[in-house]
Amino acid sequence: MKPRLRRARAGDVDGMLDLERHFPGDRMSRASVRRFLRVPSARVWVVDAPPHGLVGALILLMRRNSTTARLYSVVVDPRARGLGLGRRLVQAAERGARAAGCDAVSLEVREDNAAARALYARLGYVERQRLPGYYDDGGNGLRLRKALTSRRAR
Ligand SMILES: CC(C)(COP(=O)(O)OP(=O)(O)OC[C@H]1O[C@@H](n2cnc3c(N)ncnc32)[C@H](O)[C@@H]1OP(=O)(O)O)[C@@H](O)C(=O)NCCC(=O)NCCS
Repeated sequence: MKPRLRRARAGDVDGMLDLERHFPGDRMSRASVRRFLRVPSARVWVVDAPPHGLVGALILLMRRNSTTARLYSVVVDPRARGLGLGRRLVQAAERGARAAGCDAVSLEVREDNAAARALYARLGYVERQRLPGYYDDGGNGLRLRKALTSRRAR
């Protein structure tokens, strides 16, 4: 079955927690996943591949008084990597951010996360700030940003 990208719903909590196991570093609790699925400031997309379940998820956070959305988390099941799903998730988030009136997306990524950095670079994210010791284990982070051009201008 073809993987299908869609907005997440309340019943996706377990599938998202399963995917979280593949995330490097800190894991999200059930309570935070449930919260992200509930609050209006968060937009969540998943890639659903029945009968296997969810093979990808992305959380985008909108901030009050800011036109920059924050790409909080993106993860693809290792068995489904390299197929363009990460790219599709990030592009969906960009469309969602634009539709919500945002003009940019920012995110933090581990400096040593080559796959994620390649994905973001491919999509036009640029390094804005180095974040030494940003992660709990002392790992360095990078803050990246992409300006969203309007549909008409593209
Ligand atoms: C980062 C991640 C989401 C990428 O997902 P994916 O579905 O494999 O990525 P895609 O297949 O859409 O790849 C898109 C582009 O990213 C780049 N890329 C992805 N994985 C790569 C890898 N391992 N090495 C080099 N480049 C890679 C490629 O340039 C690719 O573009 P191309 O197809 O034109 O060559 C996935 O590796 C993952 O879930 N990692 C663990 C969680 C994580 O680190 N999340 C990001 C935290 S900020």
